[in-house]
Amino acid sequence: MSNVIISNNLSQEETLILGIETSCDETAAAIVANGRRIVSNVVSSQIDIHSLYGGVVPELASRHHVETILPVLDRSLALAGLSLSDLDAIAVTSGPGLIGALLVGVAAAKSLAFAIDKPLLAVHHLSGHIAANYLTDPELTPPFLSLIVSGAHAHIVYVEDYTKIKLLAQTKDDAAGEVFDKLARAVGLGYPGGPKIEKAARGGNTKAFPLPHPEIKDSLDFSFSGVKTAALNVLNQAEQKAASTKSKRCEILSDQDFAATVQETIVEILTDHLAQAQETTGAKIIALAGGVSANKRLRKSVQKLANRLDVKLVVPDIRLCTDNAAMIAAAGYYIWLEQKFSALDLNASALWQIDET
Ligand code: KG4
Ligand code: ZN
Repeated sequence: MSNVIISNNLSQEETLILGIETSCDETAAAIVANGRRIVSNVVSSQIDIHSLYGGVVPELASRHHVETILPVLDRSLALAGLSLSDLDAIAVTSGPGLIGALLVGVAAAKSLAFAIDKPLLAVHHLSGHIAANYLTDPELTPPFLSLIVSGAHAHIVYVEDYTKIKLLAQTKDDAAGEVFDKLARAVGLGYPGGPKIEKAARGGNTKAFPLPHPEIKDSLDFSFSGVKTAALNVLNQAEQKAASTKSKRCEILSDQDFAATVQETIVEILTDHLAQAQETTGAKIIALAGGVSANKRLRKSVQKLANRLDVKLVVPDIRLCTDNAAMIAAAGYYIWLEQKFSALDLNASALWQIDET
């Protein structure tokens, strides 16, 4: 277990929400005060288990959540110095994500809410990613534009209000993080691919080979599968050439140049679409969100865009970019304020769209 942040100066008036996150390969529980201050934040990552297979194995993820959820919950309370009766509500990611994985968190949340007779709050995973920014920047309030890039999503949304989110663009096929993960695996860098590509890309040639910048007519939607296939073709050709000349693939195309070119292309596409969305909405604030928002090249590129457009950029603390439960508790607070409580027959929803919240 890792990623433990503790701050224990609680006042009587503060609303304490326990967040639970199990949508993919992190089992996480956290307590957040008033949607803005982390009291405890516990994340148990399954990276070691899934890296053996080069990606998340859903069945293993569910089983591991079952084994880990109670110790993670206990630890989040112990670190906060709180007991269940101190909590005001239980927030849980109920979608989207891996259905078996989601069900573990939802079942735990329903049991706790029933046991302590406190409201149950259903949180959309991407609203959680957006809320990581509320934990990082106490001044941030809607409206703002957000680019959410994770292992499963590439969304641009307009956050009209805390619980009112308009979908402006999404990917038609692969997510940005998914492309990083698949290409990192193809080149032998391991899992998860995003951080490995970022590390390998340092000092590399960002234009080592041409990659497409797919655009969809009259739409801000993304399409990354063509980028992934083109990069895989370049890699295969380099491998074939290496085999025919009895050399090594990395002598023809280095991991460094491959990673730098892939990273730069994805960052350029994301930044271009974000620029168009800002033009359409006239937004004065941009917030990044999701695991890929940890990428320093992306942060730099979007910062440059924000400077050019004279808008404010908010980026989550690096530790809050990837999946965690503090962001779920923070998003849950705004659902709690609106008293949009869920019944105890809440189900997990693998394909929940963000504008259906
Ligand atoms: O948000 P997240 O933890 O899980 C999902 O909701 O999918 O995002 C995980 C994704 C993975 O694809 C991972 O490779 C990517 O975020 N990622 C990164 C970086 N750190 C994590 N991608 C690029 N650069 C990074 N530094
Ligand atoms: Zn996520």
